[in-house]
Amino acid sequence: MKREDLFPVLSDLALAIQAAAAYPENHPKVQQILERLHRRVLADARRLEGLNLGFFGDHVVVDECPFVEPNSTLLRLMARMREKGIEKIRFSEGITFGELKRFVYFLGEGKRLLSDQRWESIVCGKIEGTESAAVAPLELASTPSSKILKGAIEVLREVLASLSTGGSRSRVDEGRDIVSSVIRGLREDGAIIERLMELQAHDDYTVTHSLNVCILVVAQANRLGLSEPQIREVGMAALLHDIGKEAIPSQILNKPSRLEKGEFEKVREHPFTGAKLLRKIDSGTEIPMIVAFEHHVKYDRTGYPKIRSTEPLHTASYMTQIADVYDALRSFRPYMPSIELSKTVSIMKEGRGTEFEPQLFDNFLEIISCPREGFPETSPVAM
Ligand SMILES: [Fe+2]
Ligand SMILES: [Fe+2]
Repeated sequence: MKREDLFPVLSDLALAIQAAAAYPENHPKVQQILERLHRRVLADARRLEGLNLGFFGDHVVVDECPFVEPNSTLLRLMARMREKGIEKIRFSEGITFGELKRFVYFLGEGKRLLSDQRWESIVCGKIEGTESAAVAPLELASTPSSKILKGAIEVLREVLASLSTGGSRSRVDEGRDIVSSVIRGLREDGAIIERLMELQAHDDYTVTHSLNVCILVVAQANRLGLSEPQIREVGMAALLHDIGKEAIPSQILNKPSRLEKGEFEKVREHPFTGAKLLRKIDSGTEIPMIVAFEHHVKYDRTGYPKIRSTEPLHTASYMTQIADVYDALRSFRPYMPSIELSKTVSIMKEGRGTEFEPQLFDNFLEIISCPREGFPETSPVAM
C-alpha cells in the first residue's frame, strides 16, 4: 500500500479518540467517526492481513511505513498511547464494530488500564517482552483459581521432569493433586477457562501446555457428565499426555524455524516414549499410557503413530487430542505466533468428523463458546 493510503486510518483513530473523550457514547458525531474508522481498519487489515501500528518516540509507523510530521493530531495520538503504555497495536481482519468502539473508548478515557482489558481481535502493548494485552488479564494471582494455576505450573514442572527420568509414586500423587485443584478451580470460578483461553505460553511450553490441556479435558469430561473419579483419571491422562516430550532436546522443541527431517522424527516418537515411560511408572490406571500413545492419532486414523486396529480410540484420547490442537493453535510458539480465538475455532471446525470425533468436538465447542458454563450438570456418558 502507498504511504498516503496508510495515513487516513491513523488520523481517523486520533479523531475517534478525541470524539470519544468529548461526546457521550451514542452521539451521532462519535458514531459517524467510529463507523468510518471501522470501515478503514477492516479494509486495511484485510489488505495487509492484519493492520500494525507502532508508536516510537516521535514517530508513528503504519505497516512499516513511518510518519514523522509534527502534526498536532499525531502528537496528541502519541501522547495518549504513551499514557496508556502502548507501543504497538495490531488489528486483526475480523474486528467487529463493537470491539473497535470499546477500544476507542478505552483509549479516550484516562483511568482504565491496559491490563484490565480483554480484546479478541486487537493485540497491543509494549514492543519487548510479553507484548500482548491478551496476556495481561491472566494476572491470576487475584483469584483463588489463579493461585491454583500458578502453583500447579511450578509443581508440574518438577513432576514432569522427575517422572521422565523414572519417577516415583509420590510424583504421581502430586500430579493427582494438580488435577484435583484444577477440578476445584473450575468449580469455584467458571471464568478460569476464559482466562486460560487468553493464556499464551511464552516459555516452558510443555509444562504450560500440559496444564492447559488438562484443564480443557477436565472441563470436557465434566460437561459430558462423567463421574468425579473418571474426571480425575482423564484429567491425569491429559496432564501427562506429552510426557514423552521431556526426552526431546529443548533445541528441537524450541527451534524457531522448520524442523529437519530427523528432528521431526524425534518429535514424532514422543507418544511412544511417553507410553513406555508411563507403563513403567505405576499410575494406578492405564488411561495415561493409552492417551500418551494415542493423542496424535486423528479420528480418521491419520496422524501418528499408525495404529492397525480399527477399534475406536479411547474417549480420553479424543478429548485430549481436541484440547491439544486447540492449545497448540492458541499458544505462542517459537516458530508460530498464536492464533486468535475466532480463527482457531473456524480452523478446527473444518476437522469435525475427520480430525476430531464429532460429538466430543461439539461438546468442546460449547465450552469454549460459553466458558462460564464450563461446569454444568449434563446426563452421564459411558466411557
Ligand atoms: Fe503431543
Ligand atoms: Fe500436546
